[in-house]
Parts: sequence; structure tokens; C-alpha cells
Amino acid sequence: MSKKIILTGDRPTGPLHLGHYVGSLQNRVKLQNEYNQFVLIADLQALTDNAEHPEILEKNIYEVTLDYLAVGIDPKISTIFIQSQIPELTELTFYFLNLVTVPRLQRNPTVKNEIKQKNFGTGVPVGFFVYPISQAADITLFKANLVPVGADQQPMIEQTNDIIRKFNKTYKEIFPIVESLIPKDVGRLPGIDGKAKMSKSLGNAIYLSDDADTVQKKVMSMFTDPNHLRVEDPGKIEGNTVFTYLDYFAPNKNEVNEMKEHYQRGGLGDVKVKKYLNEVLQEILTPIRERRKEFAKDKNEIKKILIQGTQKARDFAQKTIKEVRESMKLNYF
Ligand code: TRP
Repeated sequence: MSKKIILTGDRPTGPLHLGHYVGSLQNRVKLQNEYNQFVLIADLQALTDNAEHPEILEKNIYEVTLDYLAVGIDPKISTIFIQSQIPELTELTFYFLNLVTVPRLQRNPTVKNEIKQKNFGTGVPVGFFVYPISQAADITLFKANLVPVGADQQPMIEQTNDIIRKFNKTYKEIFPIVESLIPKDVGRLPGIDGKAKMSKSLGNAIYLSDDADTVQKKVMSMFTDPNHLRVEDPGKIEGNTVFTYLDYFAPNKNEVNEMKEHYQRGGLGDVKVKKYLNEVLQEILTPIRERRKEFAKDKNEIKKILIQGTQKARDFAQKTIKEVRESMKLNYF
């Protein structure tokens, strides 16, 4: 039996950070042997809320690819490719547009939130409003069975399945229902300022490419318990970002539990806990950073990886789109 398929991806709006790492990069590395994995660099999706600045995409495509390679996504077994170079994706998006109602899109909580956050001023671009439909095309064109994503993307998967059901019923059953894979036990990684989400736009991210000093500075500036003023005072661990991060990243949970008790009792200072977290993060980030540096030496090699991945993705895409046209009776000639 052939392998099941993973489709996953990121908007190339900047280098990737620890939120991406816990949300989905780790799962991609883990699953790439077991699945046939396609990793999409969603440059067209990045344009939907930043149409004035296409010039940032090329550099960021390169940055994101370096991050993929640095964390261990292996281009020999995973197919890394660029969205805009697969015209079949835009074609499928156009067919899907007819299968979704405006109220259904308006109900999508991810889009709703983003529209609120992004201050679109005089109006939301239509392309942004419909990006879940384009994302559904990303997933279905590759007949994906599984999508490893962060928790905020779950509504996208539900919307994708709505479209799949509608397509299969209206035309022909060619697309499998897709499942999301969201890391268990962990919600979404907060930013270093304690805000709900680590993100570039909030300026509260630790990047996989940050050097050791930058990581240390960011850790030392992290949000803790604002009422924990003196070392001897009891401190709170709920909503204390440093402990949240330790829960995510520290390999030794017993040590973390002991520190939590000590902190709550009083007598454990923020600086000590932060130093511990810094060590934990450097342990994870140093090998990633080193590998990133190695890969960054040969830009041509990165380009080759992207060309080969995109070619492979395109071959797959053309097969699916042929089936799509047949099932929609658009194969006139
Ligand atoms: N929406 C994702 C992000 O914000 C990127 C993305 C585009 C994606 N198409 C996808 C993720 C398909 C998973 C599956 O970064």
C-alpha cells in the first residue's frame, strides 16, 4: 500500500520561531519517514494581507527553507515547494469558490479573528477573505490525509472538509477527508511578553535563527509573575511565561516540578528560573542554529532543493487537476 499523505506549510513572512517549532515543525520531522510529506511555502497566501510588498517574499522563502532544513526536514524524503509556482492550485481554488457560501466563510473563527487583528482599514481584501478556500485547495490538490498544524488552524481543516464533501457529492468522489494533527497537551505557545500567541507581528517571538545572546536577552526579559518582587516572596506559576516554556521544552519534568514548588513557596528568584530556561532553550536551538549556518553557505543548493521539490509537486498537481476536470466535465477536448 502506498504511504498516506501529509500536506503542511507556512506563509513566508519571516523566519520561523519557537511557536512554529512546537506547533508543527516537530511533528513534520517525526512523521516524514512514515508519510509522503509535502511542505508548502505559501507565498500567495502571504500576499493576501500584504499585496503591496511582494518583494519580501523571495528572501523569506529562502529563510523559511533554511529553517526547515535546520530542524531536520529532509528534502530527500519531504517535498518542499512554492505555492505560486503551482498554477493548478489557483485553478482548483477557482473551482472551490463556487462551493462555499459567504456566511460559511464569515463564520470561520480563524478568519474572523485575523480580520479583527489586522486593521484592514477601509476593507478586507477579497483574496484575504477567501484564503481558507485557497488553503483547502493546497490540501486537496495533494490528496492529503493529514495536516500537522498549530491549534489556531483547526477551523481551516473543518472548512476544508466541508469543501471536500461538497465537491465529492456534487461531482465525483475523488478527495479523501482530511485530519488535522495538533500537538497534544500544549495549546499555543505564548509570546515572551505573556500574550496569547507568539508571532512576528506582536514582536514577541524567539526565532530559530536567533543567536545565543539574543535568545538569552529575550529569556531574561520574559514575563513572569508581576507581583513576585522579592526572592523570598511566594510566586505564581499560573500565567508565568517562564514556567509555561519550561513545561513545553524542559526534558526533566521532575526538576521543573521541584522548581515550581520552590517558586510557589518563596525563595526562588526569577533570574535563576530564567537562567535554567535559557540553558534548556540553548540546548534545543544550538544544533538547529549550527545546521542553519551550514545550509546557508550554499544558496544554490537551497535553490536546487526548491526547484526539485516544486517540480515534483507540480507533477502530482497535474495528475489531480486532470481528474478534477474530468469529474467536473470540463474535459472538452
Ligand atoms: N495558514 C498557514 C499559515 O498561516 C499556511 C498554510 C497555507 C497552510 N496552506 C496551508 C498550512 C495548508 C497547512 C496546510 O502559516
